Amino acid sequence: METGHAEPALGHMRDDDAEGLIALWHAAGLVRPWNDPRADIALARRGPHSSILVLRDQSGLAGSVMVGHDGHRGWIYYLAVRPDLLRRGLGRRLATAAEDWLAARGVPKLMLMVRPENAGVRGFYAALGYLDEPRIVFSKRLDQA
Ligand SMILES: CC(C)(COP(=O)(O)OP(=O)(O)OC[C@H]1O[C@@H](n2cnc3c(N)ncnc32)[C@H](O)[C@@H]1OP(=O)(O)O)[C@@H](O)C(=O)NCCC(=O)NCCS
Repeated sequence: METGHAEPALGHMRDDDAEGLIALWHAAGLVRPWNDPRADIALARRGPHSSILVLRDQSGLAGSVMVGHDGHRGWIYYLAVRPDLLRRGLGRRLATAAEDWLAARGVPKLMLMVRPENAGVRGFYAALGYLDEPRIVFSKRLDQA
């Protein structure tokens, strides 16, 4: 029996997804003025150690996750579900897809960072079995003089 909406399909980002992907990231509140999403997309798709996975439905992109590894740990970024599709298990599917991508490459641990103002997603990661590990994160920009 026809049940209405088909379950979004998992796949890799295509060239013509870029504008839709950036719109999704804006809708999910993940774009910051100091990050250029186009440059982030290009870098993530450049080599074999990172990728952008997406969920697609009849309306376009339903969700995304950027996944990659640095030779030691795996990382995810831009995990986003379209706002009208929240709490239907899509975030879990995307996280699981990223975990599988990393595990298939022998990466033993997945890491991610949550901005303090986004602490509301703690419950999501806890539901997926992620541990909240206290760390102090240092960073340095390499693209500015
Ligand atoms: C975080 C996000 C990807 C979750 O996507 P989602 O599709 O709504 O999550 P799911 O439906 O797969 O939920 C999986 C589990 O997490 C729980 N969960 C989801 N969002 C939650 C929240 N905000 N607080 C507490 N628990 C949450 C669900 O209840 C579910 O638990 P269950 O399986 O035990 O029932 C989505 O809220 C989002 O895109 N947020 C904006 C972008 C963002 O903050 N990304 C993370 C950056 S670190």
